[in-house]
Amino acid sequence: MLVIRLVSGPAGSDALVLPVRPGKPDSADSSGSPAELVPTAVAPGDDVRAESAALLPATRLTGAAGEVREHLRPGGAPARLWLLGVGSGDECDWRTAGAALARAAKDETQITIALPGEATEALRGLAEGLLLGSYRFRLTESGGRPALAEALVLVDDPEALAGTLDAARTTAEMTRLARDLTNTPSSTKNPEWFAEQVAGAASGRTGLHLRVRGPQELAAEGFGGILAVGGGSASGPRLVELDWRPDGARTHVVLVGKGITFDTGGISIKPVPAMKLMRKDMAGAAAVIAATLGAAELGLPVRVTTLAPLAENMVSGSAFRPGDVIRHYGGLTSESTNSDAEGRLVLADAMAYAVRELKPDLLIDLATLTGANAVALGKRHAALYSENDALAGDLLDAITAAGERAWRMPLADDYVEHLASDVADLHSSPAQGAGSVVAALYLREFTGDLRDRWAHLDMSAPSWSDDTHGELVKGATGWGVRGLLRWLATLG
Ligand code: BES
Ligand code: MN
Ligand code: ZN
Repeated sequence: MLVIRLVSGPAGSDALVLPVRPGKPDSADSSGSPAELVPTAVAPGDDVRAESAALLPATRLTGAAGEVREHLRPGGAPARLWLLGVGSGDECDWRTAGAALARAAKDETQITIALPGEATEALRGLAEGLLLGSYRFRLTESGGRPALAEALVLVDDPEALAGTLDAARTTAEMTRLARDLTNTPSSTKNPEWFAEQVAGAASGRTGLHLRVRGPQELAAEGFGGILAVGGGSASGPRLVELDWRPDGARTHVVLVGKGITFDTGGISIKPVPAMKLMRKDMAGAAAVIAATLGAAELGLPVRVTTLAPLAENMVSGSAFRPGDVIRHYGGLTSESTNSDAEGRLVLADAMAYAVRELKPDLLIDLATLTGANAVALGKRHAALYSENDALAGDLLDAITAAGERAWRMPLADDYVEHLASDVADLHSSPAQGAGSVVAALYLREFTGDLRDRWAHLDMSAPSWSDDTHGELVKGATGWGVRGLLRWLATLG
């Protein structure tokens, strides 16, 4: 993986990167003026600066975030100059720029990037962008395309910025972990394998505690939803409980993540196009696990318990059936008429367990829960549900600041009547519209006295990207890790 280091003096890389931004709008000409150089903390040297300034009009750069141009300087030092559009210069634009740079400069071994004097936001964005934009998932080591090896970041006070770089690096590494888990084929990542990955990542860190429940413990303790959904698979279900418990923490957050390692739909089987990407149906679990590992890595002073119910929703003689009644942890029952609405059944168990046994201050769940998320909001936004305006606002702020996107949706009581069942406490999959809303209303039934301290994020849509753009690379996005870490960092 790309190494990023802070330096205060010119490091002699063959390639120097200078930021550029939109020039002053030209009042006489609506097409605007060319990009201008951004003043940097450590000046690149008069000759390089003058040459770059003279060059700018001919490059036709506008300064928009993510524009990149290479300029060759035969015999010069540096031998190659990269001009990088950083737009407004805020963190998000720097993130976009960093990702574009990582891709454009993939044939370089080492680059040096000069940052402006006020470097905190720029560094955070740049480092995350470089690390996320250069991500690629491969199952084999051989045959990889070249990638940038080292980025030196030129600032005036490296020591003062070390913490910022650490936060960015941890955030990006954990996002990459979530992407890796989500991209991994389901033939590899059965529930047992996923739990082993968590154990490996958590081992040796003080303050982190892990408990993994297998089918027998789940049965003994009454986790009927996880057992029903996992019952059709040759690979038994697990419940991962990962606890980051720092000394002196005053707030306790429980994060729950849907961990369906493959979703065939079960007996209510999905058609081919809907099934082909269902290895991503554990992206919620991957995100909450990675965020918790990140909280531990950064030593955030907040207790975080993460629950990842893991199951494979398969078709077999032992699969649960439409019309089955499931008894969840704590005793509530669900009539399930569609085995493809499996996510809410495993989440219900985990949430009921959190409310009854862990009694946290706040409860957040992340899930690739419904196709309706994308119908309502398109491919980039998660759907956020909460009865708590302050909590919803804080989460949206953190998610946005981290460069992710979510949109608040209503827990509209109009649809609650559809959750009624003739034979059970709840009907888990009423067949009518408002799919994402109804799923959220169903989950709300398991929040007990945490009802107004709970938020649900349906992240089916943004968990995957169909193409490479900005800091996203085609495939799993790791959605949620960045926003959750930002949010956790605001809690004391
Ligand atoms: N895992 C799917 C939701 C999904 C769809 C995630 C597309 C990512 C992309 C979920 O288990 C599911 O199948 N939901 C059903 C619910 C319905 C049966 C009530 C859906 O959305 O169709
Ligand atoms: Mn499903
Ligand atoms: Zn699913």
